[in-house]
Amino acid sequence: MSQPTIESILQENRLFHPSAEFSQTARIKSLGEYRALCDRASADPQAFWADLARQELHWFQPWDSVLDWSDPPFAKWFTQGKLNLSYNCLDRHLTTDKRDKPAIVWEGEPGDSRTLTYAELHQDVCKFANVLKDLGVQKGDRVGIYMPMIPEAAIAMLACARIGAPHSVVFGGFSAEALRDRLIDVEANVVITADGGWRKDAIVPLKEQVDTALKDARVAVHHVLVVQRTGQATAMEPGRDVWWHDLAPTASTNCPAEPMDSEDMLFVLYTSGSTGKPKGVVHTTGGYNLYAHITTQWIFDLQENDVYWCTADVGWITGHTYVVYGVLSNGATSVMYEGAPRGSNPGCFWDVIEKHQVSVFYTAPTAIRAFIKMGDEHPKARDLSSLRLLGTVGEPINPEAWMWYHTVIGGERCPIVDTWWQTETGGIMITALPGAIPTKPGSATLPFPGIQADVVDLEGNSVGVNEGGYLAVRYPHPGMMRTIYGDPDRFRRTYWEHIPPKDGNYLYFAGDGARRDEDGYFWVMGRVDDVINSAGHRLGTMEIESALVSHPAVAEAAVVGKPDDIKGEDIVAFVTLEGTHQSSEALAKELKQHVTKEIGAIARPGEIRFAEALPKTRSGKIMRRLLRDLAAGAEISGDTSTLEDRGVLEKLREG
Ligand code: WTA
Repeated sequence: MSQPTIESILQENRLFHPSAEFSQTARIKSLGEYRALCDRASADPQAFWADLARQELHWFQPWDSVLDWSDPPFAKWFTQGKLNLSYNCLDRHLTTDKRDKPAIVWEGEPGDSRTLTYAELHQDVCKFANVLKDLGVQKGDRVGIYMPMIPEAAIAMLACARIGAPHSVVFGGFSAEALRDRLIDVEANVVITADGGWRKDAIVPLKEQVDTALKDARVAVHHVLVVQRTGQATAMEPGRDVWWHDLAPTASTNCPAEPMDSEDMLFVLYTSGSTGKPKGVVHTTGGYNLYAHITTQWIFDLQENDVYWCTADVGWITGHTYVVYGVLSNGATSVMYEGAPRGSNPGCFWDVIEKHQVSVFYTAPTAIRAFIKMGDEHPKARDLSSLRLLGTVGEPINPEAWMWYHTVIGGERCPIVDTWWQTETGGIMITALPGAIPTKPGSATLPFPGIQADVVDLEGNSVGVNEGGYLAVRYPHPGMMRTIYGDPDRFRRTYWEHIPPKDGNYLYFAGDGARRDEDGYFWVMGRVDDVINSAGHRLGTMEIESALVSHPAVAEAAVVGKPDDIKGEDIVAFVTLEGTHQSSEALAKELKQHVTKEIGAIARPGEIRFAEALPKTRSGKIMRRLLRDLAAGAEISGDTSTLEDRGVLEKLREG
């Protein structure tokens, strides 16, 4: 990879302190307390994590060693320790007064709702786990989950964790083709789905898409467990497909949690990278449980009476860690909402906050920007006074959106935690601790205690204050991914060799550009690889390009991001055509539709630009940098001397 110049034009000097009232009762109360935690963690990282693991989690059997880093970059945490994540999320709360506390408060898109207490959730999870066992699922078997945002999605995940069957949740917005590829890669033999789910006032026929995916002989799924959500007519294949409601009434509620090894695989979650094939990010049990637990507790400052709502879908890592596992492990109340921001109901988020008296609210900048556009009158017409803390995740938040969130939603009294992290890191890495760290709009602020984040050059040397560089992490942390499913080499190459290890010291390369200011605050500037972040969704340009060239009319495709007010980035595809195919509006539409079919609507290009040729280097590499400038309507910046044929650029400009 060549070293691009990483520049930041953002200069933001406003500083917001938490109120004394907030800090007084906060989990971490001051900058001094935060610094003391960081100092302890860097003086003896293993003791730091071990103390937390002992205090915060239930172990069936203690560990031998805290960290085994003898074979970097493959880390092992709490070796030989035995625990179960579903036990830590459920069983241990049943003997406390959390037993009858709401665990999940759910709102459906059409306005239906349900509440499950810890005792009820425990029963449902046990039943579900027994049903999975009856379908032949054993410890170690991978289970696909393709669900709408209904309580059964969380129940299915917890049931898998309970019996030690790693789950692989595939976001319900992915197409049948994308689902198929993931099921093949993860070698799942059971899929849990629903007849359908509500998304933006329409039913997404999930089961039908599963049927399409399963037509491919390479998918090894022998049972499909179907939850009824929408009630539309749904084909069921005898012997393969079973309704959850046919099995639930007779399922036993007795299902002891399987003692899992700390390093047993907990789940595989696919995410996009710079190459075509999505990566199956592997997380294991002990380290993930600890990291999800402690980050949720400190960053969202969970207190006994909090009603916590993270708007992410369980199909993403944020949904795994901050809708389900981290929240329940702390015995807190997690609000789950099926609906997405949509023009037909511009007040939907604020209604949920008012109705359930949400006190901690965590969402994405793209959602905030969508609501800004819908108008202040909607949040202003609701009572949002229950809120005391706000969070954002998924992409850099622009200071204007931050200020709106602070003023209109937070009533200027709620701290905002801007949380930087990734599917790979399992939990939040850089963030304010709300009672301790003053915030600056647009900055994720400081690393979580125990996280040694840095901004470096390609040799791994720290860059200077306010200089751009690569975001990297110096020491393993418990929540870190362990490998890429079925491809440990790719794990090593992708994350640990961009910056060559020196004297056995490995640096985790995150793929983001960043700078650190004079206060040590991190300003994340976005991806430096071929990954687009559109509406908070992480998409590989290569994935979308492969989808495009699989269409018979397309010869070559190059996909870039273009700045967009709401989505952060919109997808623009430059396309050259095969033989006699002619460019047309109709073909552009067809190609967009084709990408929707191959990957899902989240990857649909906003714009298709037909070209006679694409700008390439002499070695044949497409120069996306130039296309990015063109797509944004900007002047071509930087060096064009490596371009093979300068005429191509002229034509693209004219076209
Ligand atoms: C981006 C989502 C700036 C970043 C949890 C990262 C952010 C990618 C932030 C991971 C933030 C996430 N500020 N950028 N607070 N949070 N990102 O795997 O580019 O879906 O590499 O995980 O999102 O996306 P992923």
